[in-house]
Amino acid sequence: MNPDERMVRRVFVIHGPNLNLLGKREPQIYGRESLEEINASLVALGEELGIAVAAFQSNHEGAIVDRIQQAREAADGLIINPAAYTHTSVAIRDALALLAIPVIEVHLSNIHRREAFRRESLTAAVTTGQITGLGAEGYRLALRALSALMPPAVAVA
Ligand code: DQA
Repeated sequence: MNPDERMVRRVFVIHGPNLNLLGKREPQIYGRESLEEINASLVALGEELGIAVAAFQSNHEGAIVDRIQQAREAADGLIINPAAYTHTSVAIRDALALLAIPVIEVHLSNIHRREAFRRESLTAAVTTGQITGLGAEGYRLALRALSALMPPAVAVA
């Protein structure tokens, strides 16, 4: 590993199904910011906080499980919006339960004010905490929270 790589902390951001259409998809619920804009804002905030942000989106459950497993070796913190899989996926919950790093679950909408089936999160119980209903700002707050929760970067000679 390049020693410079460990001078910064590494955060994975995982976006679940349909979030690739943010900005166009039900903007009255999910807001007008596109996924690219959210990711760019997280990269910029990460630069301020000394965090390298790597964002990933998939519409496929198994691909999300694979990415969570990669976080075991390659990330110091994780932000995840599992989207619809929040309410259905035992596989994603089980993958998150394997992580020893802080994990923040983010939802753009307030899942507790919506249909009954959205009020249950299968994943929240295996995360550090959940931010819900604050729109795209929730992702930025999650990154700030991780910055406080993750151990400081170490210089490796
Ligand atoms: C969501 C809420 C989920 O219920 C929904 O299926 C999504 C997005 C949110 O960010 O508000 O796709 O996770």
